[in-house]
Amino acid sequence: MEENYSKTDLVWLSKFYLAPNYNSYPVIVDWASGCKVWDVEGKEYIDMLSGYSALNFGHVHPKITRALLYQADKVAVCPRKFLSEELIFFAKELAEFCGMEMVLPSNGGAEAVETAIKLARKWAYTKKGVSKNRAKIITCENNFHGRTVTIVSFSSEPQYIDLFGPRTPGFKKIPFGDAGALRGAITSDTAAFLVEPIQGEGGIVIPPDGYLKECREICYENNVLLIVDEIQTGFGRTGKMFACDHENVKPDLYILGKALGGGVLPVSAVVGSRELLSVFVPGDHGSTFGGNPLACHVAREALNVLREERLAERVLETGEYFLRHLRKIKSPSIKEVRGRGLLIGIEVKFGGLDAHEYCKRLIEEGVLCSDTKRYVIRIAPPLIINKAEIDWALERIEKVLTT
Ligand SMILES: Cc1ncc(COP(=O)(O)O)c(C=O)c1O
Repeated sequence: MEENYSKTDLVWLSKFYLAPNYNSYPVIVDWASGCKVWDVEGKEYIDMLSGYSALNFGHVHPKITRALLYQADKVAVCPRKFLSEELIFFAKELAEFCGMEMVLPSNGGAEAVETAIKLARKWAYTKKGVSKNRAKIITCENNFHGRTVTIVSFSSEPQYIDLFGPRTPGFKKIPFGDAGALRGAITSDTAAFLVEPIQGEGGIVIPPDGYLKECREICYENNVLLIVDEIQTGFGRTGKMFACDHENVKPDLYILGKALGGGVLPVSAVVGSRELLSVFVPGDHGSTFGGNPLACHVAREALNVLREERLAERVLETGEYFLRHLRKIKSPSIKEVRGRGLLIGIEVKFGGLDAHEYCKRLIEEGVLCSDTKRYVIRIAPPLIINKAEIDWALERIEKVLTT
C-alpha cells in the first residue's frame, strides 16, 4: 500500500478524483494470481467476476505474462500503415480458429460492435441494394453491446440513453428469444440481426433451445446478416469455444473481445468471410492501436492457452458441477439459478435484499462478484477454476444466501 494512505483514505480519494460513473465496492485490489485476488490489507478473495469474462485464463497466467513481456521488449506498437508479423499471424490464426476467412482487429468490445455495424451498413448499400441511409439493423430488447452513442441508441435501459440523445437512427428492437419476431421484423431494408447468444449484462438470459439455429435460417432466407456478439460468451465461457457452437450455428460475423486479450490487454475483433470484410476499402475504418504487435502477440498466446489447457472442455464439467451445487442451496431468497458453463446467474426474489446488497455481503465473505440487473448475482469465475475453489465459493455463497 502507498505509504501513509489507509484503505479509508484510498476510498475517499477514489471518490474525489474519479468521475462517479461506477458504483464500486470498497475493495482495493493489490495483486492477484489464478482465481485469487488480494486487497491492499492482505485480505484474500476468490474472483467470481473475472473482469466480466476478460480473465478467462485467470490472473497473471504465466504463459500470457511471458508473452506480454517478450513482445513489449521487442516492438509494441506499429501503425497500420506498416505491417508486423504478429498482426499477420494473429489474423491468420484467429480466422482459422473461428472457421472464418478475415479479421478486422480493434481494441475494446464496443469498438468492434461499431465496426460490425459499419460493415453491415456498407454491405447493405453495396451488395444487397438497400437505398442509401435506409439500412436497418434489428437488435434485441434487454441487449448489452457497449456504451458508445450509437450502441446505446438501441439499448432498452433508459439510463443508458435518456440523457445522451439524440439517438442514432437505423435500429429496430424485437424481443430476445423469439425467432418469430425476427421473421416479422425483417423488411427489404434490413441489413443485419445483431444478437448476444446469452444476454450477460441483461441478467444471464438464456434463449430457448433452437433459437439461434432458427435465426440463422431466417437470416439466410432473407439475405440478412447474422451478427453474433460473443464478446462475453466467447472463448470457452459457456463450455464450447463459442456459445453459437451449442447449436452448431455459424454467424456471418463474430464480434469478439474481452478474453481475446488474455486478461492483460484490450483486444477485440470482427471476424467473417472474405466477401463480407472486403466491403471495406482503405480509409473506411481504422484505429491507432488496433492490431498492434503487442496486442496481437498476447492474443495469439491466449488462443494457444485456450487450446492447450482445453478450457472449454473443462468448463463443461466445472460449470455443470457449480450449477448443480448452487441449485441445491435451499434459500427462500433464491428465485432461480440459471447458466451455461461458467456464466451463471442467481436471481433473488423481488422484495428482499437486492443483488447489489447480496454481492456486498459476498465480498465481505471473500467472494468477488457483481450484480447484473437489479436482482441477479453474476457468477463467472476464471475458466481455470478447480472444484476445491468452487467448493470454497459455494460454502460462502450458501452462507450469505441462507442467513
Ligand atoms: C456482449 C457484450 N458486448 C459488448 C460489450 C462491450 O465491451 P467493452 O466494455 O470492451 O466495450 C460487452 C461488455 O460487457 C458485452 O458483454
